[in-house]
Amino acid sequence: MPLVTTTEMFKKAYEGGYAIGAFNVNNMEIIQGITEAGKELNAPLILQVSSGARKYANHTYLVKLVEAALIETDLPIALHLDHGDTFELCKSCIDGGFSSVMIDGSHHDYEGNVALTKQVVEYAHAHGVVVEAELGRLAGIEDAVNVSAENASYTDPAQVQDFVERTGCDSLAIAIGTSHGAFKFKPGQKPQLRFDILTEVEKRLPGFPIVLHGASSVIPEYVKMVNENGGQMPDAIGIPEEMLREAARMAVCKINIDSDIRLAMTGTIRKYFNDNPSHFDPRQYLAPARTAVKGMVAHKIKTVLGCEGKA
Ligand code: G3H
Ligand code: 13P
Ligand code: ZN
Repeated sequence: MPLVTTTEMFKKAYEGGYAIGAFNVNNMEIIQGITEAGKELNAPLILQVSSGARKYANHTYLVKLVEAALIETDLPIALHLDHGDTFELCKSCIDGGFSSVMIDGSHHDYEGNVALTKQVVEYAHAHGVVVEAELGRLAGIEDAVNVSAENASYTDPAQVQDFVERTGCDSLAIAIGTSHGAFKFKPGQKPQLRFDILTEVEKRLPGFPIVLHGASSVIPEYVKMVNENGGQMPDAIGIPEEMLREAARMAVCKINIDSDIRLAMTGTIRKYFNDNPSHFDPRQYLAPARTAVKGMVAHKIKTVLGCEGKA
């Protein structure tokens, strides 16, 4: 099956009260782990590439690895640019074979965000590619962006209709209290999401697919594995799975997960070296890391996303 856009996936997910997992990919083992889980559970997938991933692994390598996954799995898979911040970056991914791009204009003021998003939408739609935009600003750290809690802001539901109408975007990422990275809440703080904002957005944009970034649960089992094997991660707290499941029943059709992949791999590799200090063949430690990614993604598909059997 060739790459697909997210249009059909999101329509079915919205109607069916589930979400599609959007997993960040950086190398072959991550792509294999995710897509093997998708194949076993017959789940549609979004594989997303950040500008950092593109710099690390090279555009062509990632596209070709995803093409290999399409051949191996025959699943509906969308290849998506995560957090594109300029028209040029989005254009390069559209020209280079992606089926979906995100233009993250959340670092601009409202009118700047509208203008940039509209420019990307016009180019993308003329090339059969769909566009995710962002309104509101998540806190947290990624390779290219570091947004402090003070500079983060919730999405204003009063703006969403105007934004979607004027830009023509196909899905919208909103800020309701999730954040990027492994430290989403302070120790002792009760994790909370603004479901009132999500409900209001849903009312104003009936049937329109909403995206949640920063949606790793920061699975405690893997944080523990990191720390029991020489790591020194301070208290890491993510989004509770029940909250994500609830969001997936509502208008949220795409749930972004990267940190949980990182933790699953790092915990597993640290443990491997602790148990086998004399080993040095990368296949020996990358194979269990890949299996850990597969297990983690299968768990998300079944428990959090609800998209098992929906391919
Ligand atoms: O939200 C961003 C993703 O976690 C990607 O992170 O920019 O470090 O590749 P990255
Ligand atoms: P996490 O850091 O919570 O995995 O979020 C990833 C993300 O939003 C990618 O765009
Ligand atoms: Zn993100």
